[in-house]
Amino acid sequence: MKVAVLAGDGIGAEIIAQATRVIRKLGVSLEMQEAPVGGAGYEAAGDPLPAATLKLAKEADAVLFGAVGDPRYDTLERAKRPEQAILGLRKELGLFANLRPAQVHAELAGASALKAEIVAGLDILIVRELTGDIYFGQPRGIREVGGTREGFDTMRYSEPEIRRIARVAFEAARKRAKRVCSVDKANVLETSQLWREVVSDESKNYKDVELSHMYVDNCAMQLVRAPKQFDVIVTGNLFGDILSDEASMLTGSIGMLPSASLDERGKGLYEPIHGSAPDIAGKGIANPLAAILSAAMMLRYSLRAPEAAVRVEKAVAKVLQSGLRTADICTPGTRKVGTQEMGNAVVAAL
Ligand code: IPM
Ligand code: MG
Repeated sequence: MKVAVLAGDGIGAEIIAQATRVIRKLGVSLEMQEAPVGGAGYEAAGDPLPAATLKLAKEADAVLFGAVGDPRYDTLERAKRPEQAILGLRKELGLFANLRPAQVHAELAGASALKAEIVAGLDILIVRELTGDIYFGQPRGIREVGGTREGFDTMRYSEPEIRRIARVAFEAARKRAKRVCSVDKANVLETSQLWREVVSDESKNYKDVELSHMYVDNCAMQLVRAPKQFDVIVTGNLFGDILSDEASMLTGSIGMLPSASLDERGKGLYEPIHGSAPDIAGKGIANPLAAILSAAMMLRYSLRAPEAAVRVEKAVAKVLQSGLRTADICTPGTRKVGTQEMGNAVVAAL
């Protein structure tokens, strides 16, 4: 099997280096090939998603992705900005289902901004639709109307798009606590009204899974009030973007959370939820665990190596138990280590 390794910008290279070390240590036979993406793609080929990088990603069985973005490129026209690389990959590869788990490792409950008892044992999965919604809807633009400029975007979802992401959520719930909460803004938006109708209809095929609905504003509140009420949350692209960042903070560190973006056949792109963190890039202090756990998800979902995935997850748990922490999750009584040392520890635990 072949993995496209796209480290990207900022801390991307440092954390992905640790993830590929971990994969090599497992001894699973796969080819890993690197290519530039994001700002690095722009530097190499004048395009955040160079044609050769896209070709490699299309040929590969899975993509291991670091992070993109750097303030240096903020003034470029939108088409050349690093974010276009990840949006382009999602669209070109048909990665419509984004799985964003938020779990609180017992040892890290104290690192959350919330009281430990509210988050201890938390285990939720956000299933975010990733190739539709206002992110990709047409028309969009900035136009002049009667001498005044206005910006506009189009929120839209087709019935099949809603149905297929609902199915992913119901299937995932079957392997968990069998509860799905569908999040929308059906009290205001037509798109959400259709969303709610279609998700409800699809739930008839999953009678063993309990479905509830929640407005997105309430969900944002419930996530910090009583996050353990949730099992699987399914939502659209925009709401999922926002809620998954919020959920990540429940865990104490965005540096811990992996994600998977899957197509209809199990091919996927795996990336940490966090960004490129340009402020700490090159300092050797970034947390590589989200990247390492993303590699574990890749082994499970795309490379058909679930045992290897479990080994990686157990190694990470063991390292945390031993008290090692990168700066972002460091609490009194633990030992602060850098990116490389954290990688060393996971490799040793394997
Ligand atoms: C994410 C990011 C992206 C998004 C950006 C970088 C385009 O925030 O993966 O959540 O908005 O989807
Ligand atoms: Mg986001």
